Amino acid sequence: MRVLGISGSLREASINSALLRAARQLAPPGMHLRVLDGVGELPLFNPNLELNLPVQVRVLRAAIVESDALVLASPEYAHGVTGVIKNTLDWLVSFEPFAGKCVAVLNASPRAHHADSALRETLKTMSAVVVEGASMSIPLRKVCSIDLQ
Ligand SMILES: Cc1cc2nc3c(=O)[nH]c(=O)nc-3n(C[C@H](O)[C@H](O)[C@H](O)COP(=O)(O)O)c2cc1C
Repeated sequence: MRVLGISGSLREASINSALLRAARQLAPPGMHLRVLDGVGELPLFNPNLELNLPVQVRVLRAAIVESDALVLASPEYAHGVTGVIKNTLDWLVSFEPFAGKCVAVLNASPRAHHADSALRETLKTMSAVVVEGASMSIPLRKVCSIDLQ
């Protein structure tokens, strides 16, 4: 099974990106988890660009096609999802292979419930299948006793 991990944080020490790397290490035999690089290089979504897709968008869409499922981990910024994860998803709204894709949502900061809900709503609107059994909140910020704000 090929799983694509996407982090909604560009921060070098991101706990969401770390969570995806940990999931990659812990993936059971038969599951390959690729953590996608370069979402920060995606241009801001513009429907006019759909006719002549930027190379970064082609890379993203190819990675989606090659994946059986996705796992997303993203912080909450100002009670919303990050621009990074929203921009990434906006490039996939009209991309048919995304519809019906199974998606796990990881939340590294359970107090960040606004972004978690908003992300799930966006995914459902895009006809993704949010797999609740594979989605979880993991209080990493408490475990690490760090305050990143
Ligand atoms: C601009 C900004 C806005 C934030 N807004 C919220 C917020 O509304 N709710 C919350 O729980 N955390 C908020 N945080 C804290 C981040 O969600 C937290 O630091 C998270 O660990 C960052 O994820 P990362 O380590 O993957 O980069 C905010 C952080 C920043 C930088």
